[in-house]
Amino acid sequence: MMIAPSILNINNLDLKNDIQVAAQAGIKRFHIDIMDGHFVPNLSFGPQVVSDFKKTFPKLEAEVHLMSNKPEIMVPAFVKAGTDLMLLHYEAMDTAELNKWIDYLKQHQVRVGLVLNPDTPLTVLPPFIPKIDQLLIMTVYPGFGGQKFIAESCEKIRQAKVMLASKIPVEVDGGINRQTAKLAQEAGAEIFVAGSYLFCQESVVAQINELNRVLK
Ligand code: DX5
Ligand code: ZN
Repeated sequence: MMIAPSILNINNLDLKNDIQVAAQAGIKRFHIDIMDGHFVPNLSFGPQVVSDFKKTFPKLEAEVHLMSNKPEIMVPAFVKAGTDLMLLHYEAMDTAELNKWIDYLKQHQVRVGLVLNPDTPLTVLPPFIPKIDQLLIMTVYPGFGGQKFIAESCEKIRQAKVMLASKIPVEVDGGINRQTAKLAQEAGAEIFVAGSYLFCQESVVAQINELNRVLK
């Protein structure tokens, strides 16, 4: 089990402090949401956040969730910035391109995850299973933090686990809190992205501890 906090809803001027506090509470990997204003109707961070993150916290992992349909600009820039693991959306490009960028990431020693939107069926998954390190099942439509967990995702997680035969971990992203994390875990999820649940309450440490407690 791993919690990968999304830094999206942190007050940008507090990023260093909040990441430090979360790391002291045991977090090893952070989820960095990249939104390009095209693939999703919102803008977030550029590659400099990733390079600053790796410079400031070299021992922490940067997981980049790429919400962009311009991989030719974005993927090399985020690789150069020091991304450890990149999550590519199935919906953002055609299959040939997706395979090309998966190979590119592997050549650059960056681990790869495939991301499926809530309305993308698992039938697209099999050809990618031998090539990926992680599967991210979106539990909201991407674009914004603070949305409600889509309950139907649990059945999708269950089916994905069967298809993956426990070889690749399943991650969930969107609307994760103490209740929905538990539901996703019961369905088979192993990596939990949480943003507003961790960073929009009074104490980041208390929220991390609570999520750790329910997921034990
Ligand atoms: C949504 C992003 C998520 C989001 C999570 O497009 O991919 O990572 O920031 O935020 P919460 O936990 O608030 O749903
Ligand atoms: Zn995300």
